[in-house]
Amino acid sequence: MSTLIDNIGLLVTNENERPERERAALVIDGGTVAWVGDAGSAPDADEFIDAKARCVIPGFVDSHSHIVFAGDRSAEFEHRMTGQPYAAGGIRTTVAATRAASDAELAANTSRLVAEMRAQGTTTVEIKSGYGLTAIDEARALAIAKTFTTETTFLGAHVVPAEFEDDPAGYVALVTGEMLDVCAAHAKWIDVFCDDGAFDVDQARAILRAGTARGLGARMHGAQLAPSGAVQLAVELGAASVDHCTFLTDADVDALAESDTVATLLPGVEFSTRQPYPDARRLLDAGATVAIACDCNPGSSFTSSMPFCVAVAVRDMNFSPAEALWAATAGGAAALRRTDIGGLAVGQRADLVILDAPSYVHLAYRPGVPLVHRVMTAPAG
Ligand code: NIG
Ligand code: FE
Repeated sequence: MSTLIDNIGLLVTNENERPERERAALVIDGGTVAWVGDAGSAPDADEFIDAKARCVIPGFVDSHSHIVFAGDRSAEFEHRMTGQPYAAGGIRTTVAATRAASDAELAANTSRLVAEMRAQGTTTVEIKSGYGLTAIDEARALAIAKTFTTETTFLGAHVVPAEFEDDPAGYVALVTGEMLDVCAAHAKWIDVFCDDGAFDVDQARAILRAGTARGLGARMHGAQLAPSGAVQLAVELGAASVDHCTFLTDADVDALAESDTVATLLPGVEFSTRQPYPDARRLLDAGATVAIACDCNPGSSFTSSMPFCVAVAVRDMNFSPAEALWAATAGGAAALRRTDIGGLAVGQRADLVILDAPSYVHLAYRPGVPLVHRVMTAPAG
């Protein structure tokens, strides 16, 4: 089955030589981009779609989410908006609600959020565990996550749960032992929250090494709440991505620029915590690879909208619109070490969004406006 999308006003492919082209057409065959060229000159296909001069972009790759959970923390958000700071301890509130929820309730909550994401143009999502924090609860979160995506991440090291308050070393032993044993088969990645009130650099190193020894890829939450050695540790371990990067030292920026560890920025977090936004220019100008993701979670960033995050990134983090779109598509793919998604070059998956706009600039120019006309994905992805 082949499909021709013709009369595209602006097509973004993210190809190096020519990342975007005006008045374009694209042919999809078997879920893959088979041909890209000028409007009106494409080969015949089984199905025809007239884009009517709309902009076509790669589907968003949201490389960071925590959407297997129960409960609501809107009261915590309300307190933050009247001056309270964000603290890692709020995670325990969601842990209690998640442990008390049934499998069916958790699956339904996750499904609803995946549907929200998809309606806003996200075609690949990474999903973390991290609100169970027992072997059985982490494993069930990952079992649910993997029914929605292949990009599943074991985050048993999200925070030390209340029952291990006086024995954090015992909790690290559980995460790297029995919990990893039951979670590894359900996960592609291992993550750790290395920050104030969570895990320190030595604990994070032990946890990530245990995961990589079991074949999981490393990723990390770092420098969200304070500068620390987290970013340098991520680079040292060859992590695919270090996420947040809100408080970076010059040495962190240099280390990221010289590595292939992606710096993933999460605009929804600064928006929802009133922390200062990181300046993407610092990273981009140094030559680091930068991604944008939602970090959809009930505590620090309860948005499922990549268009919203792109708009905030442009407005408040100093991305250009083109840089922000790249970071939200190809950047997310790099953060997941994927080359089959994040762009629309011939041979890549035909995961795409037809925008109800002539240009992707409208994602930031028209913030909060539903601009997704149609989302198309290759089968099984
Ligand atoms: O990425 N920082 C750690 N984890 C999440 C927040 C989780 C929560 O507050 O429930 C984050 O921001
Ligand atoms: Fe997160």
